Amino acid sequence: MSEWKVVCRLEDIPVLGARRVTRTHGLDVAVFRNDQDEVFALLDRCPHKGGPLSQGIVFGSSVACPLHNWTIGLCTGQAAAPDVGCTPKFAVKLEIGLVFLNSAELASHATDLTRPVAGPTRHTVDPHAPPLRGSLPPEGAQPCLGGRPGAAAGACA
Ligand code: FES
Repeated sequence: MSEWKVVCRLEDIPVLGARRVTRTHGLDVAVFRNDQDEVFALLDRCPHKGGPLSQGIVFGSSVACPLHNWTIGLCTGQAAAPDVGCTPKFAVKLEIGLVFLNSAELASHATDLTRPVAGPTRHTVDPHAPPLRGSLPPEGAQPCLGGRPGAAAGACA
């Protein structure tokens, strides 16, 4: 059984910005607000190299990652072409000025994903692996799985 949990008021989220929601397990969830007062929720982890999407700039129904400027769709979590990758999305709804996330999703969705570790990975590099290129998704990049169907707010019909 799913229950909705109030995480903040709409006015607590800056227009064209985001607010982070911490979880007991897993990375934070970023709740975004655009200039139409639509709200969206994604794991606060860019599919490129784990940048904090909550610190990105929202435009339309997308966010520009603050690290390398990838564009991530807020409805799907999908990186815009030519980049490839996806960050998990979460169901979100807005009612009477309050923003809700799904409690079950907060507890269990994408809790296995961690933020990539910066710096040399000397101990884990496979000497026979092909060289990395800038636009490749990180190892373990996942397809978009999305949140609960029909529960998202904003322009994600
Ligand atoms: S980490 Fe987001 S664009 Fe590189």
